[in-house]
Amino acid sequence: MTAFGATEVLNQGPAQQEFLADVLAGMRQPNRALPCKYFYDERGSKLFDEICELDEYYPTRTELRIMDEYAQEIADQIGSGVRLVEYGSGSSIKTRILLDHLDSPAAYVPVDISQEHLQNTADVLNAAYPEIEILPVCADFTDRFELPKPAVEPSHSAVYFPGSTIGNLEPEEAVSLLMQISSLCGRGGGLVIGIDLEKDVSVLEAAYNDEAGVTAAFNLNLLRRINRELGADFKIGEYEHSARYNEDLGRIEIDLVSQTDQNVTIDGESFEVEANEAICTEYSHKYTIDGFATLAEKANLTLHRHWTDESEWFGVLHFVTTS
Ligand code: AVI
Repeated sequence: MTAFGATEVLNQGPAQQEFLADVLAGMRQPNRALPCKYFYDERGSKLFDEICELDEYYPTRTELRIMDEYAQEIADQIGSGVRLVEYGSGSSIKTRILLDHLDSPAAYVPVDISQEHLQNTADVLNAAYPEIEILPVCADFTDRFELPKPAVEPSHSAVYFPGSTIGNLEPEEAVSLLMQISSLCGRGGGLVIGIDLEKDVSVLEAAYNDEAGVTAAFNLNLLRRINRELGADFKIGEYEHSARYNEDLGRIEIDLVSQTDQNVTIDGESFEVEANEAICTEYSHKYTIDGFATLAEKANLTLHRHWTDESEWFGVLHFVTTS
């Protein structure tokens, strides 16, 4: 057994210039929007971890239960000698369940946009699994990035994409990302993905409007980050968090709503924000198993098996590449 030592994070992350360009582009639109991928600075990542523990936020614990119950079946579907690439290595609990059951994985490649979080995950997993080569990559997984080569030649590659994070993309963007995943894995590759399923609106809306206000703090933290890192002057106390389910489009829509008329300056450019104006910060799409499988077919991924909880609130789906 080879023991792998301290791990260096390979940084392929987006530059501050790109952050600024994305924020400016979002603020110049008639329907203003800020990309949700920028939620995850150090404080944002911590707040997200807190969200995952909330009573109202069912996805994390439901997915965890599914992983716990079906871990061996899922690992068997992935197969032995895999290079397992995880998109958004937020919390390592689900990963550990998989790593505990996989047969002789060639390497584990966590990919995350938050360098601090990634380093932490890599250090923890390195200590817990000295026999598995951990090759972290700091990148925005919606962009193309290079897969690191493990010391041991993998028999195939599989992507593990838990947490229903794909729901934060619009369906066309989700198809492009799935295409990227199927080409990254190539022939014989696989994808295990967590998907939040359609359900009662009251359950969905409660999950994004928790009583303790953690989701609101998470949402508002985006403005704090823009103020701090881009020198903007959003009056944070004058925005309110809003999260509503759009039944026609099957998604939760998260906004920051200005309570007053105000002016914001970002990098010398000034923007008038009106009272009651909503700046969209995130969509969280909810799918049916069949609906998601149809989407994935467009990216040459065929649904092979799936597992759900008894209420069918969440699904873990295994796809195989078809080309
Ligand atoms: C990361 N993602 C799947 C979360 C979600 O449920 O869409 C992000 C989130 N936003 C607010 N609460 C949680």
